[in-house]
Amino acid sequence: MKKFLVSTAALFASLSLVACSSGQSAEQSPLDKIKEKGTLVVATSPDYAPFEFQTLVDGENKVVGSDIMLAQKIADELGVELEISSMNFDNVLNSVQNGKADLAIAGLSVSPERLEVFDFSEPYYQVGNVLLVQKADAEKIATVADLDQLDLAVQKGTTQETYARESLSNANIISLTLMGEAVNELKNGQVKAILLDSAVAEGYISQNPDLAIAALSFEAEEENAKAIAMPKDSGDLKTEIDKIIAEIVESGEYNTYLEEAATYTVVE
Ligand code: ARG
Repeated sequence: MKKFLVSTAALFASLSLVACSSGQSAEQSPLDKIKEKGTLVVATSPDYAPFEFQTLVDGENKVVGSDIMLAQKIADELGVELEISSMNFDNVLNSVQNGKADLAIAGLSVSPERLEVFDFSEPYYQVGNVLLVQKADAEKIATVADLDQLDLAVQKGTTQETYARESLSNANIISLTLMGEAVNELKNGQVKAILLDSAVAEGYISQNPDLAIAALSFEAEEENAKAIAMPKDSGDLKTEIDKIIAEIVESGEYNTYLEEAATYTVVE
């Protein structure tokens, strides 16, 4: 019996030595890692007002929006600094997957495909998909058949790109990197429509009276619930973020973020 106890103690001692020597204890949770780092790195693509976009503050370009205020709230609640990592949308989720970012907050819709690769927080906002068109075309595009052979722009890497390629394949789907590029091509007639989130379309319409939402409407599917992406099996980090989201949804705080975002001028 004595021999057994001695070897178990030795085994435990060697395991804890290995864990400590790695600089982080083996059992450190995703939340503890962020707290130890002291910084929450959030990947986003600031071309999507009112969620995340650029504006001028004291002559300096700044990334603002309702999602940025949500990110700041989370960093504050975790007691760490916030670092916003801006990039093209089709790199946002990769940044979480390769560990360069802790979270992705970018007007992200939950989808079955994404859920296979990432954990998602509870939803914090719900939008639908709409077609942004030139005002003169709004009533002409009332059915999917009306999209036959039309150039339809979507943002690369989005759920709208996936949906368009699966369900609107009678149109010519054009995947563009930046939402601003898509809107410029719509305004100059290079494309006839853009499939995007309804809240963002409304923002562009408020800045561009020549644009409108087409009569063709789409079901507000479950996958258009907005949520935060984080690595798979994020455990206590997801639990903590879900708590914060429950609070801000219950209190209506996210809606106040949207109201404040609407006061900023979008800088492309
Ligand atoms: N909701 C869509 C998605 O999750 C589009 C998001 C685009 N976001 C952005 N910041 N450009 O794929």
